[in-house]
Order: sequence, then C-alpha cells, then structure tokens
Amino acid sequence: MTSQETHPEPALTQGRDWFKSAVVYQIYPRSFADSDGDGVGDLRGIIGRLDYLSNLGVDVVWLSPVYRSPQDDNGYDISDYRDIDPVFGDLDTLDELLDGLHARGMKLVMDLVVNRTSDEHAWFKESRSSKDNPKRDWYWWRTPRGGIEPGTPGAEPNNWGSAFSGPAWEYDQASGEYYLHLFSKKQPDLNWENPEVRAAVYDMMNWWLDRGVDGFRMDVINFISKDPALPDGPKADGMLYGDGGPHYICGPRIHEFLQEMHQEVFAGRDKDLLTVGEMPGVTVEDAVLFTDPAREEVDMVFQFEHVALDQEGGNKWRPKKLLLTDLKKSLGRWQDALGERGWNSLYWGNHDQARAVSRFGDDGQYREVSAKMLAAVLHLHRGTPYVYQGEELGMTNMTFGAISDYRDIEVLNHHREATTHLGHTDAEVLAALAPLNRDNARTPVQWDATRHGGFTTGSPWIVVNPNTNTINAAAQVEDPESVYNFYRRVIDLRHTDPVVAHGDFTMLLPDDEHVYAFQRSLPDAELLVLGNFSGTARTADVGVPAWGDAVQVLGNYPPDAGLRLRPWEVKVFRRAV
Ligand code: NOJ
Repeated sequence: MTSQETHPEPALTQGRDWFKSAVVYQIYPRSFADSDGDGVGDLRGIIGRLDYLSNLGVDVVWLSPVYRSPQDDNGYDISDYRDIDPVFGDLDTLDELLDGLHARGMKLVMDLVVNRTSDEHAWFKESRSSKDNPKRDWYWWRTPRGGIEPGTPGAEPNNWGSAFSGPAWEYDQASGEYYLHLFSKKQPDLNWENPEVRAAVYDMMNWWLDRGVDGFRMDVINFISKDPALPDGPKADGMLYGDGGPHYICGPRIHEFLQEMHQEVFAGRDKDLLTVGEMPGVTVEDAVLFTDPAREEVDMVFQFEHVALDQEGGNKWRPKKLLLTDLKKSLGRWQDALGERGWNSLYWGNHDQARAVSRFGDDGQYREVSAKMLAAVLHLHRGTPYVYQGEELGMTNMTFGAISDYRDIEVLNHHREATTHLGHTDAEVLAALAPLNRDNARTPVQWDATRHGGFTTGSPWIVVNPNTNTINAAAQVEDPESVYNFYRRVIDLRHTDPVVAHGDFTMLLPDDEHVYAFQRSLPDAELLVLGNFSGTARTADVGVPAWGDAVQVLGNYPPDAGLRLRPWEVKVFRRAV
C-alpha cells in the first residue's frame, strides 16, 4: 500500500439526495459564543464564528432552540414559537445569521419542539384558564384517580413517570384536573389528536420556512401520537413510577401525523430542505418506514440504540463498560436495515450525551489520536454525520465537584429524587452522574486559552473546562495536525469521494473486541476503514493481499503501509476496482 492522497472527482450529489454528501454541525447556543458579556451564548456570538464553521467545511447548521422560553430546560420549553428569546437576540439577528450562513453556502436547520410547549405559552395559559376554554383539549387534561385525595401521591391519572423524575402529571388546583408532562412540569404535552393543534403547528413551521430556514430537527417527534386511553405502563422493581413508553413511543397515529405534516409543510417547496426526527426508542423496522423517501415522512431519524450500550437497562445513571462488539453489532444492524430504503443519521454526541472522546475514546494520553479515529470511523459510515460543537476540537467531559456546579434540570431533579426518596447518598449520586450527565457536553466551547476560554467576558452560566488552556480552537485552527484539521479532511472526503456518500456498507471482523473494520463499495471503487479502539497495537486481519495495491487516503499517524494499527490508530485505504 502507498500513502499518497487521491483526489477523486466531486460527488455532485444534488436534488432529493443532497444530504447524503452533507455534514451537519450542531450549535447549542447557550454554550457556543457570548457576544455581550452576560455569560450566555447568543446569536451574535454565532455570527462572529461563521468563518470558523465555513472553514471546517460543514454544510448545515442545526441550531438548538433560541425561541422565547422561560429556560426551564434550556430553551426546549418554548413560550413563543415565533420570537427569539432576548437572552439570544431578536428576529432581525436571526435573519442576519441566516443570511451569513447562506452567503457562505451553509444551511440553517431550526429545532422544532412540538411534542409540548412551555406552561407559559399562550396556548397553555388559555387551556388552563377553564375547563370549557376552546383550547382545553389542546393538552392532555385528565381527572384524578378516584378514592385518593387529588394532588397527593397516587391520585395521578396513570402511573407514568416523567423523564426528569417525579410523576408525569401535575395537579391544577383551580380546575381539579391533572395535565400530562412527559418532561418537566413546565413542559405540558400537546394533544396531537386535536386537528387544531396540528394545524397551528404546521402554520408555524410554514412561517419559518417562508422566512428562509432550511428545515427542522424535530425534538422527540415520535412521542406525539399517544394512546388516548393513557393506560398504566410497566413498572420495574425499585422504580417509583411506571414506564409510559409503550403507550407513546411511535404511537398509533405517528406515521399518519408525519405524512400529514409533510403534505402541509414540505410538499411542493422547491428547495433542498432537511428533516431529521429525534426518536428515542425507535426500532430499525420503524426507522425504515419513517425514512423511506416514497412514504414522505422525514429524511432521517436520530436513533438511540448505540448510546444506550454502556448503561444497565438503558438507565444512564447505571453506567457500564461498553463492548466494541456490541457497538459494531448495533451500528452494523442499522447500516444493513437502512441500506436499500431509508437513510441513517450518524452521531457520537450532542447536547444530551457525554463528550465523544471521553466516552468512546481515551481523553488522556491518546486524546488527539482517539478523537481523530472516532471522527473517521463515524463519518465513513453510510449516513449523514453530525458534529456536536467542540467535538471537532476533541473537547472532553468535565469533572464537576458538588451538585451546585451542575445546571441541568435532569441532573438536579434526579439528585433530589435519589437522595430524598431512594435513600442514596450525595456521594453515590455524584459518582453515578459523572460519566453520562448532559452538562458534560454543555460546558462552553473552548475558543482560546484566556480566562473562560474566550467564550465570554462575563461570568459563564456554567463552568468552562479548565483544560481550555491546552484544548482550544485558537491553537488548533492553524495546526495542520490538529483534531480540527483532521475533521476538515474527513468532511472533505465525504464531499469529494462518491463511495463515502453512496457506497454500500459491509461490516468486517464483527467478533474483534478492539478493531472496528468495515468496507464501503461502489461498482468502481472501494474503501477500507480500520479503527483501533484500544491503547495497544493490534493487527486487523481483513484479507491482504486483496488490499495490497490500495492507497491510504486518511490516517491519524504518519503513514505506514500494512494492517498493523498503533494505539487508537485509524487507517483508511481506497482502491479502484
Ligand atoms: C430532547 C432534547 O434533546 C433534550 O435536550 C430535552 O431536554 C428533551 N427533549 C426534553 O425537552
């Protein structure tokens, strides 16, 4: 094998399939860049970093919510869908951001949070105002269970727990009824059975598309169709509440609702738009249906299987060691299932997950090489890759001290429930929280080595990781060997080599506990990707001499022919066939 780089012709992916050669970058605005010194990131901060994004080579920016919001769940609780929260800016600044992205050839995808609103949204205020208000039925109101004093434990209409601890129901004293909230009590669930709700949501989506945005990332969109009977869910030993999931995950009308949304919002628009549905608990079988272009639902979904493999029973507060064979089995199954029909999204991290290099790589001695290896392995799968802010710098998890260092409602509520109702000590809860809590990913982007990492001139809303001294954008942008510049090369490969965007996928060495190996194939070209997921040298025995004349097109060590991999090494070979 030789080590020169090849320069294949551009993939020229156009039309419906444009997103197959695209890379998406996620911005979590609170933590990206603060322009006004209030300690919270904002739209003008993003505008100041557009050249950084354009230089990275990404095609699309997905912006986590910036709408008006009481910020109970950092903007995933929206009180006005058609305005920007003052902490982030205003509509004019959003338009300026959109223009700035478009001028650089990038698209803007907004977050769409319509499984629920904030309890401070005008719709909910009306709904709550009386039992006969015309919007009463826009949310899920139910009477207390009989025989128990309303508002006391056990009187909730069913046994469902909220994802943020406690019951999924809040008692409204004034009307004597409960409302459903799958997340915090400030996030009441909308009733999608009501056609007026659906029409109002579609109207709002059309308003944003008419304004020029290029699509939506749809928050827990597979929760919008609930079994209207709202039956109790199974309750595991040791749990305080039942699991309502079987009655709202990909519920009875979900495909109908998404097809209707497509007709009412996206159909007939003469523009390349992107739709990605966040779908916890989605199965591969359902994902094929959601993403089959002929069914006109969404372009791709975020599935959660591979980010639950390092937890006992899918409980993120009970972390366990990840087996590489499990990871390959899971991702390989998704590659196979969505190979002919449908399309995958690819991610290691986002604002709800731990930092990729800390979770799947080595954030100590091999931080840089392992961050690069992870980038290459993920991006060279078949699907659309997502880069979460700071991942391109190899940013790591944060070591938090006391519970008061945390900001995430999920963490704070869990800590309260576990210490007050489950008998756990503070130290036990903090230890369990450390590896997978969401604040790991929410510490600010590390722009430079100055105070607060160049994120803000004020006091940051959450602590900046002290390793900004060594891990930061300023140091990496100019360094050709940095993680950032490796991401540029990986992204460029998807843009220029059709086998990355369109090739078939074949998993190799499924039983190897250390090497992640796969092949991508088109009739005239093949890629071989070998990633060492360990800090020890390994050999990937994938069938030389068949690959003997291939060219190494990407690697994270000085090139060296052959199938021997140094610690956390990745090698990517290409050959014409
Ligand atoms: C999914 C979002 O990604 C997450 O950040 C949020 O907390 C939940 N939806 C509930 O709002």
